[in-house]
Amino acid sequence: MDIAIVGATGVVGREALGLLEAGFLPDLGRVVPVASAGSAGRDLGEEFGLTLKVEPVVALERFDPSTVDVAVFSAGAPISTAWAPRFAAAGALVVDNSSAFRMEDDIPLVVPEVNPHTLRARPPRGIVANPNCSTIQLVRALHPLREIGEIERVIVASYQSASGGGLRGLGELADTTRSLLDGADPARDTPGKFGQPLAFNLIPEIGMRDDEGHTHEERKLRREPRKIMEMPGLRVAATAVRVAVVNGHSEAVHVEFADEVSAADALAALRAAPNLRAYGDDEGYPMPRFVCASPTERRLVHVGRVRSDPDDPRALWLWVVADNLTVGAALNALEIVQLAGEMSWL
Ligand SMILES: NC(=O)c1ccc[n+]([C@@H]2O[C@H](COP(=O)([O-])OP(=O)(O)OC[C@H]3O[C@@H](n4cnc5c(N)ncnc54)[C@H](OP(=O)(O)O)[C@@H]3O)[C@@H](O)[C@H]2O)c1
Repeated sequence: MDIAIVGATGVVGREALGLLEAGFLPDLGRVVPVASAGSAGRDLGEEFGLTLKVEPVVALERFDPSTVDVAVFSAGAPISTAWAPRFAAAGALVVDNSSAFRMEDDIPLVVPEVNPHTLRARPPRGIVANPNCSTIQLVRALHPLREIGEIERVIVASYQSASGGGLRGLGELADTTRSLLDGADPARDTPGKFGQPLAFNLIPEIGMRDDEGHTHEERKLRREPRKIMEMPGLRVAATAVRVAVVNGHSEAVHVEFADEVSAADALAALRAAPNLRAYGDDEGYPMPRFVCASPTERRLVHVGRVRSDPDDPRALWLWVVADNLTVGAALNALEIVQLAGEMSWL
């Protein structure tokens, strides 16, 4: 399989190359990194210390998409909107990490552990959407709980890391933290990438607010799980918060069921789920720094603090942590490619 990684120089693109380096797609042929014209010719194999054979970076507008089987897009929604249909028309299966196509009816929105059946046939437009990073870990934790009862409502507060803002987000957290520690005046902080200063802070607003006061990220957390879990009536309320964490998103999730449920049954259902680590009370709890520091743990969704709501026997609380670059982006995208590869249509 020949693959193009569009946005290969960014944090998600680099993660995808790292997974390919680790042998994630065994039948790999050419690996072509694609980025802006300013990155053309860069040797990412050398820069990222890869042994994988990676071709020099090609500028997007100079790349011929008919030369690859698959293209994973991680270069932002405007780039996907303009270029993904052209790649698909040239015959490449596009897996898109941006928000450009996620809610379109004829574009499957896929989390392989949750709705793999949506890829039984080739998607009509040749494009598969990868959900938002915070959605992926949420639905991966909710899906196994459907074994213990009918989920009626979800209330989630997300704690999202700086890497969710790409290379610029990471750079800004590092620079502003350093300058405050070096004695810079906090009153002179500039808003930067996240709209507010992030160092030693948290920002309860990710993306533009709508007329009712909900942010873009909160709308994604409401709409995307409904589509993926095929539960159009699922009630979801979200508060999305950017926190001064380098990498790894966390979520406090309140799940309401139609009938009484037990935390023990929930834990058992979570333990049986693939690619998920569930923590009993005596096994501690997941934290983003530690989850993201381990090459094996960062490929899993971690669920801890599973407990009953003391005022509602039909409800549970969960604490869900995952690496947003891996589970929330590159790994899910490559799992989609792997799943497509197992189908006769690719
Ligand atoms: N970060 C996350 O946790 C996360 C999670 C899920 C989904 N996503 C989505 O993944 C995408 C990439 O995010 P990121 O965090 O990796 O961003 P990033 O670190 O800022 O990287 C952006 C990438 O896009 C490329 N790019 C920018 N303008 C381009 C152009 N005109 N033509 C071709 N390539 C261009 C950049 O190439 P140059 O280096 O040449 O500029 C770079 O490779 C976004 O759509 C984001 O919403 C991100």
